[in-house]
Formats: sequence, structure tokens, C-alpha cells
Amino acid sequence: MSSRYPDANTGRNSPASVQFPGPGNTRVPFAAFSDPDLYRRELARIFHGPSWHFLGLDDEIPNPGDYKTTYIGETPVIVARVDAARINGFVNRCSHRGNLVCIKERGTATKLTCVYHAWSFDLEGNLTGVAFQRGARGEGGMPDRFRREEHGLRKLRIGTVCGLIFGSLSDEAPELGDYIGPEIGARIRRVLHGRPKVLGSVTQALHNNWKLYAENVRDTYHASLLHLFYGTFGMTRLSAEGGIVIGETGGHHASYSRGSASTAEGNKDYDGLRSNQSGFQLEDARLLRHVDEFGDGITVQILSLFPNFVLHQINNSIAAGIVVPKGPDAAELVWLYLGLEDDDPAMTERRLLQANLSGPAGYISMEDGAVTGFIQRAIKGSEAACAVLDMGGDGHGSTTSRATEASVRGFWHAYRAQMGL
Ligand code: FES
Ligand SMILES: [Fe+2]
Repeated sequence: MSSRYPDANTGRNSPASVQFPGPGNTRVPFAAFSDPDLYRRELARIFHGPSWHFLGLDDEIPNPGDYKTTYIGETPVIVARVDAARINGFVNRCSHRGNLVCIKERGTATKLTCVYHAWSFDLEGNLTGVAFQRGARGEGGMPDRFRREEHGLRKLRIGTVCGLIFGSLSDEAPELGDYIGPEIGARIRRVLHGRPKVLGSVTQALHNNWKLYAENVRDTYHASLLHLFYGTFGMTRLSAEGGIVIGETGGHHASYSRGSASTAEGNKDYDGLRSNQSGFQLEDARLLRHVDEFGDGITVQILSLFPNFVLHQINNSIAAGIVVPKGPDAAELVWLYLGLEDDDPAMTERRLLQANLSGPAGYISMEDGAVTGFIQRAIKGSEAACAVLDMGGDGHGSTTSRATEASVRGFWHAYRAQMGL
């Protein structure tokens, strides 16, 4: 079957370079993780398309004039606070000759001035100053037809939920609350039940396509198999009580589970598997001590929003992250570790200690970046072959089983709809 769809950049129809054979979303061609043409279309249709993208935390820019820089896809953007109630976002590209307007990662300013020719912009994105607009010594300068008001910064739509700031480059994206939907929104509010603040951050280079990580966070099947730490210390097992909530479009998910102490019965499911390790103990058990701050006994909740946002709660460690595409076979994973405004010092210390479970060298998550990199190496020369996503059937509805790839199929469902594939 060949599919044709309009090219977002040119408006012309062009043939799809990657085909998904089905049934449903159970087969993903490996070319989807390396094809340069497909990648370019993703930047246009997903990252510049009708999606919302995590930009940072309200708490990162608390005062008027505070700004930070980040990315939507590969496009650099600025997020700036105007006043207590208002946050603006812009593409970080000078409207003169295209230089980065903000070079620093963060700062405070009443105006944003480009270093190249000193054009300056206010925090609404208006062009307010053009160096030598009237020329020098009565010569040169801008012609009379030049209008500053035609050369502001490109503005983003901005939305916030629970202190998280999102931006969109598309007028067609639904309002942020509708985009997230009620079930997933409730799962965000469950974790961020107070105003979040940043405790620290890490950035990890991934040697793989961004979608291999988007799949990984939605992949409930692998957690207690790849990550020996989870199973060994009974933090989560597929045999424990839990489930997956999948949003209406398929692209967002929240998986959750309650802790399961190592029991003979629970261990039986893992007979013969690498993850059935016993006899290991931690020198310092504080790492595993979980305070049930949400009152529901859930020890792990991993949440994603399409396309590339993650919010996880692992015991009392909370982190918000994005996977930033950096080409067909490279990405960056940026994590912000969070606390809540009303945390006492003991809770802050607990969150920081348990932050060691995730991140590039985390006891649990260390293997994720490794395995996605291994896949990128393994698929070379097998672009026409497909990954198999049959676990749990071929649907992508919410389920009480985590022995399923439903949320991964959900990602591909949303992806294909937005890519027209
Ligand atoms: S490129 Fe920014 S002022 Fe010229
Ligand atoms: Fe993982």
C-alpha cells in the first residue's frame, strides 16, 4: 500500500518513505527510526504541528523579566515571564538575519537584544530598537517603507498546567487542557498536588532516534525485565497491582503500580528470567523508603504526553523531562527533578536521595538509554524489517494489565494520525 500525503513545508503531495504494514499498530518498520526524510517531516508535522511541548516550570522563571531557552523539536525557543500572571514564548531567532536572540540558557532582562546588529525586542516580542535605523552621518539606514511592527519575534501559544509550561507553534492545536484530556490531567494533578519547584536537572545524550525513547517510557512490559533493580527490590513487578490509562488519541499514557514485596508467588512469574535475582541487599535502605504522600499506595507512576514529555513518580522522586530530537539517530533527554512548595526538609532530602534511581546513571533508568542505543546500532541494514508489538493484542485502550504494549501502540496510533501515514 502506498500512501501519499501533503508535505507540510511545500504543500505538495509526496510519497511516504516509510510504510506501516499492520495489523493495527503492531508493526513498526525500523526505517521509522533512521529515515532522514521521515525525520524532516516529523519536525514539520509533529513539532511544528498541532501538539503541545513542555518548555519548563513556572518556578524556573519566577520574576518579571526572567527567561529561559529550550527547544520545540530542533527549533530553539525562549520562554519569558512578563508579569505575575503572564508568560510569553518566542522562536529564538532574530527577525533580522536569523541569529539566536538569547544565547544564554537563562537570565533576566527588560528587553532582548541580539548580539549581531543589536536589534532589540520587548517581552511581548515586539521589535523596539533597530541600531542605526536612520543611518550614520545622515547616510544609509532603513528605507521609509521599513516597519518595525512587521518584524517582531515569532510568538508561541503558551499554556500551563500544575506549574508546567507548554508551548505550541500551531494555531490548530486544541486548548492545552483538551489536548491532555481529563484522565491524564487527573494523573498529572495526582503527582503535582502542590506547586512544583526545581531541585536539580540533568541532560543525557542519547545515541538513538527520539521515538525509541518515546516508546521506552510507554513500554510497561520491559520495566521489571530490563531493570534488575525494580524486580530485585520489589519496587514494581508485572504481577503487582497496577494498570495503564491511555488518553483518547492514544498518544498520552499513565502507567501505575503498587509496590510488591518479594513473595514466592510473585517470584514464580519471573522463574528463569535474568531479573529474578535474589540475595542482594542495599547497604542503605533509605533509598527505597517510600512515604505514601498521595494516599493511594502507588509507588511508581510513569506518565507521557505526546509527543515527547514524561512525568514520573518513582517512590518519592518526581521528575519532568523531554526527549529533544537532534537528528534521525540522536537525541537529548533533559530531566528536571522536582519537589513541591510545601515539602519539609526531610521530604526534600528523600526526593533528592531517590533521584538516584533515575537519570543517566540511575539505578533503574541507566539501562534505558543503553538499550535504545543498542537498537539504533542493531537496525542498520534492516530498515525494511519491523518491530513486533503484539503483546496484549492490537488495541491501545486503558487496561489493568501491564503485560502489554498497548501504550506503545497508542503512541504509534497518534503518530501516524499526525504524520498522515
Ligand atoms: S541578526 Fe539580529 S540584529 Fe542582525
Ligand atoms: Fe525503563
